[in-house]
Amino acid sequence: MDKQQEVSEAEIAVHWKEEEYYYPSARFIAQANAADPAILERFREENFPECFREYADLLTWDRYWHTTLDTSDAPFWKWFVGGKLNASYNCVDRHLAKNRNKAAFIWVPEPETEESQTITYQELYIRVNEFAALLRDFCHVQTGDRITFHLPMVPDLPVSMLACARIGVIHSEVFGGFSGAACGERIVDSGSHILVTMDVYNRGGELIDHKAKADQAVQVAEANGVKVDKVLVWRRYPGKYSSPTPMVEGRDFFVDELLPAYRGQRVDPVSMPAEAPLFLMYTSGTTARPKGCQHSTGGYLSYVAGTSKFYQDIHPEDTYWCFADIGWITGHSYIVYGPLTLGATSVMYEGAPTYPDPGRPWRIAERLGVNIFHTAPTTIRMLRKAGPDEPAKYNYHFKHMTTVGEPIEPEVWRWYYEVVGKGEAVIVDTWWQTENGGFLGSTLPALQPMKPGSCGPTALGIYPIILDEDGKPIEAGSGRAGNICIRNPWPGIFETVWGQPERYIETYYAKYCKNRASKDWHDWPYFAGDGAMQASDGYFRILGRVDDVINVAGHRLGTKELESAALTVTEVAEAAAVPVIDELRGRAVEMYIALKPGYVASNDIVEKIQTAIDTLIGKVARPKNVWIVPDMPKTRSGKIMRRVIASVSNFTPVGDISTLANPEVVENIRGAVQGAKVARGDVPRELSPAELEEIGRFGQVE
Ligand code: WT7
Repeated sequence: MDKQQEVSEAEIAVHWKEEEYYYPSARFIAQANAADPAILERFREENFPECFREYADLLTWDRYWHTTLDTSDAPFWKWFVGGKLNASYNCVDRHLAKNRNKAAFIWVPEPETEESQTITYQELYIRVNEFAALLRDFCHVQTGDRITFHLPMVPDLPVSMLACARIGVIHSEVFGGFSGAACGERIVDSGSHILVTMDVYNRGGELIDHKAKADQAVQVAEANGVKVDKVLVWRRYPGKYSSPTPMVEGRDFFVDELLPAYRGQRVDPVSMPAEAPLFLMYTSGTTARPKGCQHSTGGYLSYVAGTSKFYQDIHPEDTYWCFADIGWITGHSYIVYGPLTLGATSVMYEGAPTYPDPGRPWRIAERLGVNIFHTAPTTIRMLRKAGPDEPAKYNYHFKHMTTVGEPIEPEVWRWYYEVVGKGEAVIVDTWWQTENGGFLGSTLPALQPMKPGSCGPTALGIYPIILDEDGKPIEAGSGRAGNICIRNPWPGIFETVWGQPERYIETYYAKYCKNRASKDWHDWPYFAGDGAMQASDGYFRILGRVDDVINVAGHRLGTKELESAALTVTEVAEAAAVPVIDELRGRAVEMYIALKPGYVASNDIVEKIQTAIDTLIGKVARPKNVWIVPDMPKTRSGKIMRRVIASVSNFTPVGDISTLANPEVVENIRGAVQGAKVARGDVPRELSPAELEEIGRFGQVE
């Protein structure tokens, strides 16, 4: 048999070099929430599912549950059945007795001329109650109804979330950076009749008109059969309407004008069954319709409380800053619900990471005394590119840092560790997904050493397996890649895809379920859709989405390993690998590169990148072209849009770029790259529909 055909479909050629361990300091260990290895014993598989009582016991229950895990309607798992609780009560009310005047949130506006705002638990309690009263009495929403939010990073967002939770209304926040049309689609999908938005917000030095998107959202919703009855508009500067977009009489209302009528009102928290939906969070799949991931009240809240305590190591006295957007699951779980159930102080920042300069995050950290910092590789790369020496100029000290959202290249990890963390902070690399509620893979920071580029073992109570395409297990610790699955349900797992239960089963469970009639969780491994390999020490390295691999001459290459290799070249700030249709090799790799400031594109740099890939991965992976570009097309959340780049390389339509942060760069890149290719006579043949589809969804992120 030909060597190339021996590589099974799910196997990805893995060429990473193993990294050295880094160990937590004695000082960190001495104060850690999880410092006794006995915790690992408590969460061993033989103690499942009862081990998760420990997480649920972090909450205040109105009625204790009778069944920890109910699998009778597998794979629609139910956790803590029989239990009742309220999420708003758990995040707010229960902290009043001891911590009424403690900061729940410290909100930092983007303009440095504006003071930060501190919202104590008492203040939060008042705001949540008054807004809940408004929702109930003015909007007439009832337990089980959905409300869509399209809010930026302002305290009104968690206030709105917690007000919904108080009355059992299901919130669905759409990331503020998304278009009005995207918001409209999600209104339709969730069947919301109320939209909560804001007039404007600050981003990158500009006051951005946001209200215009609400009008578009309502239009799109109506065109698709869902009427929005009321649009509630928070004003970024209360009392002053800052958007040029007119209000619509009888439909649009300023929240700050309505609220005085509800002054002093108290709304009893509605005691909800543990399995009642708390919120929807939309994520994209391979088809156009977004998936509304439905998260539960009791299971979800338990899981984010437990993981915030043990993995984020949040103590009541910490100042915790998760530098993410609440419009993503990370923000829901680790800005709002997790930290607040623990009574912590959670920092929120309105604006762009490098505004007005790349020292901004470190000034915020210094000023507020932040000691836990949580962000994504994309932000880390951006800050490293724009201000590699900035952190040293500020007097802050982190004990703990998190990275989340995509694999982090070891080069970037080391900058995070040495420069941002000043060699003092532990790092947890947390692997998980919108669907999961909370972390699936991470080191326990005081008990398990760090390894750059690996998320570590799976989290407490999460039992993994790597399967090949046929469902055959790949030997644990063999270093061979396949599809990572979780064998068991856990409390944070989503309950279903809103309105599409068959899609929930098809996307996540059908692939490896051998017996659809089974009520035994052992028969229902959760398919995460990520490629991964497990090293002999049990640590997992996530290789990215299984559809993000580039199959070059029978070798499936993870984009991340290619990019990590390019990142070892000193001049390189960012790298993105995409497939081009290649007559001889099936697919070839093209590499897009952005340089650190102060460097100019040269053949020399291209050579160095080629050499790095040759030596770190092998000649098979050598990119056909390396394009040095001024900037990458990115989503508002900072993810590189590989499908757009792939379309440029393949001369296919770039598709919808309306959700990009910088749509204008697409034309520049296209002009330069396609011009050069045409000049070389390197224009691909007409692509087949399957090829077009592959390119059009490559590395798909919204
Ligand atoms: C996908 C999920 C849930 C956090 C925000 C992203 C990738 C996430 C890591 C990590 C390597 C990671 C995976 C996953 N991913 N975290 N630490 N290391 N890859 O949520 O938008 O649902 O994306 O992000 O590919 O499947 P999401």
